[in-house]
Amino acid sequence: MSIRRLPEHLVNRIAAGEVVERPASALKELVENAIDAGAGRITVVLVDGGTARIEVVDDGCGMTPADMALALERHATSKLPDELIESVVTLGFRGEALPSIASVARLTIESRVRGQEGWSRIVDNGRVEREAPAALPPGTRVIVEDLFARVPARRKFLRSPRAEYAACLDVVRRLAMARPDIGFTIEHDGRRALSAMQVEDRPGRVATLTDRALADNSVAIDIERPVESGMLVLGGVASLPTYNRGIADHQYLFVNGRPVKDRLLMGAIRGAYAEMLPRDRHAVVALFLDVPTDQVDVNVHPAKTEVRFRDPAMVRGLIVSGLRRALDAAGHRSQRASDSALAMWQQETASPPGGEAGPRPQSRWDGEGTPQRLPLEDRSYASVSDARPTFFAAPPQARAEPAWTPPPQTSAFPMGVARGQVAKTYIVAEAEDGLVLVDQHAAHERLVLERMRAALVGGTIASQALLIPEVVELDEAGCDRLESRAAELSEFGLDLERFGPRAMLVRATPALLGQSDPKGLVTDLADELAAFDEALSLKERLDAVAGTMACHGSVRAGRILSVTEMNALLREMEITPHSGQCNHGRPTWVKLAHGDIEKLFGRK
Ligand SMILES: Nc1ncnc2c1ncn2[C@@H]1O[C@H](COP(=O)(O)OP(=O)(O)OP(=O)(O)O)[C@@H](O)[C@H]1O
Ligand SMILES: [Mg+2]
Repeated sequence: MSIRRLPEHLVNRIAAGEVVERPASALKELVENAIDAGAGRITVVLVDGGTARIEVVDDGCGMTPADMALALERHATSKLPDELIESVVTLGFRGEALPSIASVARLTIESRVRGQEGWSRIVDNGRVEREAPAALPPGTRVIVEDLFARVPARRKFLRSPRAEYAACLDVVRRLAMARPDIGFTIEHDGRRALSAMQVEDRPGRVATLTDRALADNSVAIDIERPVESGMLVLGGVASLPTYNRGIADHQYLFVNGRPVKDRLLMGAIRGAYAEMLPRDRHAVVALFLDVPTDQVDVNVHPAKTEVRFRDPAMVRGLIVSGLRRALDAAGHRSQRASDSALAMWQQETASPPGGEAGPRPQSRWDGEGTPQRLPLEDRSYASVSDARPTFFAAPPQARAEPAWTPPPQTSAFPMGVARGQVAKTYIVAEAEDGLVLVDQHAAHERLVLERMRAALVGGTIASQALLIPEVVELDEAGCDRLESRAAELSEFGLDLERFGPRAMLVRATPALLGQSDPKGLVTDLADELAAFDEALSLKERLDAVAGTMACHGSVRAGRILSVTEMNALLREMEITPHSGQCNHGRPTWVKLAHGDIEKLFGRK
């Protein structure tokens, strides 16, 4: 078989295979071009999720007719004035996007440089169809129609217009987040889907483009670290661990203003939240990393969504320590009772279930046809007959401090003063500004974990010998794993040794855990170790190990606590970092502010 040089249109189509995977990737290239052209406003119009039509209009520098012809040629770019790819500051630099898109769709470009005539050019699947003068304001308008209409193999892989639209929206949202100084609008099937005005600051833009609740449930990140050629700067926002999602799609990452989905960065975020979130939950972040251009190679991925750092360990370290420090500084903050949680209280009190299981609360009518909300204390009746967790159905078991206790100095204690315990599970405390409910098990587990972390920083965790060593039977693989980590586990205060092929002998457990259950602990640890990378030391997975241990050494739900114990727990929560969420990322406490309570009673 003889070798031949491929004709240009085939070369472009092959390149398109990498660059243009779906409507969202074509859209990304077009919006990036508009940004690189210095636009102040960018308008995107989509039809059928971009599968039928994508239109991007900008008010940037525009192109002359000659430049327009060149722009459609492969490897023609205005963005590399010299040979230095390393120092590129624009989003584009390869000169590939337009010819690639033009080879797999019908592409219309109209453009005008201020003070000159406008020009248009239509290219249909690689062939120039028409060019002519065009009337338009300064800037550029690019229309992509019928993407992949002539590439059935590709068209077949497109998802539903809805899914393609979601991907398009995500692409523009990311680019818009990076550039608050540019106004963005998106219209889909004739409907305005997103509109972001030009603003001065990133936090404002991030708030516009994400869930507004993020602002109330996040910390600001702002740190820098010097390197030879300048500074690594990390800015943005990161959610409190209690504000998390089931997928990582809500992590917005930028390197030098370029949206990326970089594995190293995502791994660093996971590391920063490791012991605060279970594996299947993800923090919400918008993080902007700015590094000197010689510290990063942006030319490593066809869609330019991954980068390579010269010193990956340093970048990872910066992110992990930066996020941790900011989250530490947030102290014991937890989530405020959300509106939906409040709504549940209201619903339950407003519509008591039927049934004969107890006195029915009286609904009072306000004469306007809406039942008034019932007093909170009626909730106990409402709960008896419905399918609430069984502890509500049990005989009354709430305890309260005697009413004659002198009024506590609530102002000195942000978590409040213990007033009682409900269902042997929740502590009720009165704070200066509202009512605090604490999940005693979750909170205590968190405190134990933080104590273990602190102890490990100072060396090893003290262990407490068992009076009679306990034999724990496990499968062989589990025993092997524990045995190979025995020396490391003893630094955590757990002393064990192999006891035959399928058993371990536990001699001592971490003193911090108090009366723990060695069997449960060792069994869980064996499982935990199976998920660990063998190359990592346990100290590197400290949080997971300590988390598993803490879970076994905590006050269980269902234990009656004395008022002194409850107050001790509250005081410790106040001074312990991260005490606002349990090791699984759920809140350890919630507060009903006085205003919230007033709302419940219709006083506001
Ligand atoms: N909206 C626009 N306004 C002004 N000029 C543009 C616009 N879009 C494209 N161009 C010009 O066309 C050239 C080619 O664009 P194309 O997207 O194909 O390549 P690139 O942006 O240079 O690099 P990359 O392939 O990495 O995107 C650009 O270098 C730019 O000069
Ligand atoms: Mg480009």
